[in-house]
Amino acid sequence: MDIVKTIDLLRSAVQKGRAEGKSIGFVPTMGALHKGHVSLIETAIKKCDVVVVSIFVNPTQFGPNEDLDKYPRDLEGDAKICEQAGADIIFAPDVNEMYPDKIITWVEVEGLTNNLCGKFRPGHFKGVTTVCAKLFNIVCPDTAFFGQKDVQQAIVIKRMVKDLNMPLEIKVCPTMREESGLAISSRNQYLSESEKKEAALIYAALGKCEGMVGEGVSDCSKLTDAMRGVLGKSPNINVEYISIVDIETLEDIDNITSKALVAMAVKIGATRLIDNIIVDTNK
Ligand code: PAF
Repeated sequence: MDIVKTIDLLRSAVQKGRAEGKSIGFVPTMGALHKGHVSLIETAIKKCDVVVVSIFVNPTQFGPNEDLDKYPRDLEGDAKICEQAGADIIFAPDVNEMYPDKIITWVEVEGLTNNLCGKFRPGHFKGVTTVCAKLFNIVCPDTAFFGQKDVQQAIVIKRMVKDLNMPLEIKVCPTMREESGLAISSRNQYLSESEKKEAALIYAALGKCEGMVGEGVSDCSKLTDAMRGVLGKSPNINVEYISIVDIETLEDIDNITSKALVAMAVKIGATRLIDNIIVDTNK
């Protein structure tokens, strides 16, 4: 496995594979790799001949009061995980390599970024889409792999690729969970053992919603109240949002008529966690 830090070297490494007729899979990450990333890498390996993993903590997607400085960074540990998972190339540029000049060109997806996390993290998705557009231009993958846990990100990126005719396919892979149901995330590292136990209430709340939908409840205010009730079992959980939205527009709905996305963001102490499920009244 090669670790490359410059765009030029990454381009030549990928070009070598392409010249041999190999397909290129890409897993963009901010490092602090965990089982969720490993499953993305493994899926990429099954589908593509050469797998590139980028590790770049992208400053443009963090707000001024967010965790950019304390975001976990461990290139050595991440490299071991990538090697074991079977990735071929790690692209680990520094900030100057990715942003040598003050950036004045942005890629922004409208509408889909207004609700859910977009409402609470202004500018976040603009940073994500811009860095992903840059990374896609650098790596030129056939397929890029994203996790369902960051569902709004995946939907926004899919739309960017479609609207801008970017020549790649976006694959969205299932959320990996701890035994407790807690969605695996790099930010789980910030949680104490007792906070981790409380964080399991997030999936319990989503499960409660799924159960109620299964029993025929379709009224979104009843469903969100019930989820708030589950989260209320811990006094340390502060709900940022619990939303039930249309799976395509990501706009709030009052009633579930077929498929809907149930998504939430909560804070436990200073740690912000997100999770989601898709429910379907026809199931
Ligand atoms: O999901 C992430 O880790 C990041 O948002 C991404 C897609 C790597 C862009 O920085």
